[in-house]
Amino acid sequence: MVNILFVCLGNICRSPMAEAIMRQLINKEGLEKDINVDSAGTGDWHVGKQPHEGTRNILDLHNISYKGQRARQLAKADLTSYDYIIGMDTENVGNIRRLAGFQPSGRIQRILDYIEDYPIADVPDPYYTGNFEEVYEMVYKSCQSLLKEIKEEHKL
Ligand code: 4NP
Repeated sequence: MVNILFVCLGNICRSPMAEAIMRQLINKEGLEKDINVDSAGTGDWHVGKQPHEGTRNILDLHNISYKGQRARQLAKADLTSYDYIIGMDTENVGNIRRLAGFQPSGRIQRILDYIEDYPIADVPDPYYTGNFEEVYEMVYKSCQSLLKEIKEEHKL
């Protein structure tokens, strides 16, 4: 089983969107027994909440389920349980590494690093920008590319 964890700040906007998109891509390929996906936030302000309305709206528009998703805070144990720990921006990755305090076995990377030659490195936070559409586009592209890489690497 390959375990993927998407991480953002609040776990209500960007990383739950990535989780829902990735789960749909995994299901489409019939890989749900091989790849597990989850998300978490580095902050604890929204623990227990469902995804932000903007994230729910864009996922509904694209018929992508987010059923049962609730915000949770990133825990130290996650760093050894997941093979891919994917932050939405440079700050998330810094916070993940700080929590780790050691070199975890999993790969810690920014999600946009998975799109070749992308002009920006960080997914803008729609909690502040209000632009969930642009986030959807870039997260979707990254997830397609990440899944392709995982399939190749793990021969799925
Ligand atoms: P997210 O967006 O990290 O994409 O879930 C945010 C959600 C909440 C807050 C910040 C960012 N907040 O400060 O409450």
